[in-house]
Amino acid sequence: MGRTMRAQLAGIERVVGLLVAALTVCNAMAASPTTAAAGSKWWQNAVIYEIYPRSFQDSNGDGVGDLNGIAQRLDYLQRLGVDAIWIGPMFPSPQVDFGYDVADYENVDAQYGTLADFDRLLAQARKRNIRIILDMVLNHTSDQHPWFKAAAASRDNPRHDWYVWNDGVKVASGPPQPPNNWVSLFGGSAWEWVPAIQQYYYHDFYRAQPDLNWRKPEVERAMFDTLRFWLDRGVAGFRLDAITTLFEDPQLRSEPAQPGVNAQGDPILTRIYTDNLPEVHGVMRRMRQMVDTYPDDRVIIGETYLPNTAELDKWYGGEKHDELHLPMDMLVGFINKLEAGTFRDRLLEVQTQIHGSQPLLVFDNHDNTRSWDRYGDGVHNAEIAKIVATLLLASRATALLYQGQEIGQVTSVPTRVEDVKDPIGITGWPKERGRDGERTPMQWDATNAQAGFSTNPRTWLPVPTSYPTVNVASELADPGSLLNWNRKLIALRRTNPAFAGPMMMLDVQNANVLSFARVAKNGKAVLVTLNMSGAPQTVSLDTHSAGIGGATVATLMMSPASMKRPASAGNITLAPFGAWIGTAAAN
Ligand code: GLC
Repeated sequence: MGRTMRAQLAGIERVVGLLVAALTVCNAMAASPTTAAAGSKWWQNAVIYEIYPRSFQDSNGDGVGDLNGIAQRLDYLQRLGVDAIWIGPMFPSPQVDFGYDVADYENVDAQYGTLADFDRLLAQARKRNIRIILDMVLNHTSDQHPWFKAAAASRDNPRHDWYVWNDGVKVASGPPQPPNNWVSLFGGSAWEWVPAIQQYYYHDFYRAQPDLNWRKPEVERAMFDTLRFWLDRGVAGFRLDAITTLFEDPQLRSEPAQPGVNAQGDPILTRIYTDNLPEVHGVMRRMRQMVDTYPDDRVIIGETYLPNTAELDKWYGGEKHDELHLPMDMLVGFINKLEAGTFRDRLLEVQTQIHGSQPLLVFDNHDNTRSWDRYGDGVHNAEIAKIVATLLLASRATALLYQGQEIGQVTSVPTRVEDVKDPIGITGWPKERGRDGERTPMQWDATNAQAGFSTNPRTWLPVPTSYPTVNVASELADPGSLLNWNRKLIALRRTNPAFAGPMMMLDVQNANVLSFARVAKNGKAVLVTLNMSGAPQTVSLDTHSAGIGGATVATLMMSPASMKRPASAGNITLAPFGAWIGTAAAN
């Protein structure tokens, strides 16, 4: 699926035609009454850190991360400056898709700990002002969930139509054929035959992940109950897994096929009958109403891979702002080419085309090749990673950071099929090698061969060989490290009032350098300029047109440190892939 997403994203059309309006629109937005006041809710401007629990910290020596391990690392997260952690699914699960196949929504898998451990983690995190967001898998359950076991036992069971069933198409001999051409994102037909009841069930993901039938009000009620279970315990909100795929076409029409096959060898389908169906918005509105009855600004975040910003806006509820607080924008972070013009267009679009809602940017997660490798050129990856960090943390957006991203962990893809753990790597080998590469253990230090992740030499995925130099301990000690770049940026966005203000693009015709200003209410600005080319560049930023006034600048952060400190916004020289952040005086 990770790679399928990548293919989908590669096909997304480049946003055009906004350059000319850049400054005007941004300035208008700053004054617009519909602009959500930045910083008024905790999640606006927050840094949310994704933890893949199997790979963060093992506290009991079984080679798999756990909740107590997360608790041990809270001091580090506080030092990094994160506002919340999103913990990947830690519910009881057969772990076929490593927790995304849930067998019980109201407990903790024994591998990860107990409910009591979870409550302790919640309390310890709260002491450090770190909120906890859970990953809720609403599209499907495990085939081992009691609901599905009942549903698959008999057509008459009251749970039967909690899932999506079909009799299939009768043929001359043998069992009926699947009702249509829908394919699973994990490879093969999306329909699985159950001989005992002579029916197919639908699974968008693996066959062990049957899709729930969200057309049944009972399903919504049961799932909202589980959300309440965790909200009552004190979680700050949810990341809604695969949320765009809740509904399917009731007529089960075949998807239009494009030429060729995907990495799994399946036809490439245009998903108009299985993804992003309008019915899902009703569920989102009802969920938002329910979640908003809780105090303390609970938040709902969506895993929303969408074709364009207009679709993304619908997930906020458009001008009504009555659906998700933060659907993920995947259009900026997955451009996958370091092109100043494309970043400018996409960033501008999400600043201006979502009715003043708050963007949520993401460059890395547990499903995609790490940004280190997607954006790196193999030579300047360390410098490029600082540019990516700056795009994420200096833009006007809530930021999602994935564990290991802050230290520059590399993607370590298995080289032998027998080592692959991810089901899509097993079904898709060798073209699709799965998502293990971005899920390897967190590299904490060089005290043992497990990078401090575990005491057990047999970790569930191998620790990449980069750990002796790429690890938290050594990077904390190095002022020029990527980790310290991230820490300083997070501290800056927390403390400098310009980061509560709008984002204005500068020097908008420049194809090599992306420059923008963040402007505080009092007119004080922070300027950011990022050289996305392998050649030195000199920029002249017209701070007057941006309404900032005086052009005298003072450097706050820059990389490489050897760059010349500019005195004026009119003359900033950047090294290849250099980044500069500084203040500009107001009039
Ligand atoms: C989401 C998760 C992914 C999982 C899938 C099925 O895309 O991020 O890891 O495999 O949903 O739940």
